[in-house]
Amino acid sequence: MSSPSDNLSPLHSPSPSERRSEVVLSTDKLTKNFGRLCAVNRLDLEVRSGQVFGMLGPNGSGKTTTLGMLMGVTNPTSGSFRWFGEPASNLTRKKIGAVLEHPIFYPYLSGQKNLELNAMIKGTDPANIAKVLNIVELTERKDDKYKTYSLGMKQRLAIASALVSDPVILILDEPTNGLDPMGIAEIREIIKRIAADGKTIILASHLLDEVQKVCTHFAVLRKGSLVHTGPVDDVGKGEETVELVAYHDDLSHILHEFRGSLLVKAESGKYLVRMREGFHAVDLNKFLFEKGIVASHLITQKKSLEKQFLEILQEQNVEVRR
Ligand SMILES: Nc1ncnc2c1ncn2[C@@H]1O[C@H](COP(=O)(O)OP(=O)(O)OP(=O)(O)O)[C@@H](O)[C@H]1O
Ligand SMILES: [Mg+2]
Repeated sequence: MSSPSDNLSPLHSPSPSERRSEVVLSTDKLTKNFGRLCAVNRLDLEVRSGQVFGMLGPNGSGKTTTLGMLMGVTNPTSGSFRWFGEPASNLTRKKIGAVLEHPIFYPYLSGQKNLELNAMIKGTDPANIAKVLNIVELTERKDDKYKTYSLGMKQRLAIASALVSDPVILILDEPTNGLDPMGIAEIREIIKRIAADGKTIILASHLLDEVQKVCTHFAVLRKGSLVHTGPVDDVGKGEETVELVAYHDDLSHILHEFRGSLLVKAESGKYLVRMREGFHAVDLNKFLFEKGIVASHLITQKKSLEKQFLEILQEQNVEVRR
């Protein structure tokens, strides 16, 4: 079997439209060691304006440590990074809003009051509060005490708090962790809305499904090292191959007749049919059925990039929601 690095190239050449957008973050061999443990290993990343950039990797792959360095919470062991082409400074940090850990909110104060207090502590103008409450859909509950909020609402208030200063970049670390399916869907919608509002978002997640649903670009980390970076659209690329067992004297010929067949191969008692783009196992099954052939075995082999990401994510028994 091929190793993940066979098909996954850590290097991604930007498309013409990507080249036009500004590089907002670049890291150069960014490294963090904790004693003998290398948590982040010579990481080269590039995030451009307008992207929703997913950092995807299993537990312990170095996502939070990377975000910590980018936010100035942790010092890199070696390597460097630049925000907006400049070394990190108070000025660059003002352009970044982050939900790294659960921010401190006062349980007996309302969402609105908590945001006002946060704005005051950060020295930012509270004028934006009504707008951000609207974005995170908390306007109706803004006067209720924080302690009455659901986990999803608390997370939404945390996002609102990061947005009050109207940052250029929003950083989110596992924004849907611990939420129920409804809460997860709400957060994902909100992230898309914030992106549509023109913000660049950097999001850490261990869920391929999440990254596919909300991100435009992503990087895959494994044990602190970058194994792939590129547009999310590429994940689904590559033809499907359908594995098939059916009994008919002339099966090979019939499979070649199918409009969706790109390549037909017989292998250890099975047929492998590489499908043309837009054709799936169900189309092949229907075609065979119409010819009076019933398949006793019909499986779609996963697309190679996707399969390899799943393997990386599953290495440490990480939950992979599909
Ligand atoms: N302060 C620390 N001291 C020692 N080791 C640490 C420290 N912080 C993180 N690590 C280790 O660094 C590695 C990367 O951890 P990190 O939290 O960055 O991973 P992660 O990708 O965010 O994981 P998760 O999906 O669980 O949030 C892990 O092996 C972790 O145990
Ligand atoms: Mg983490």
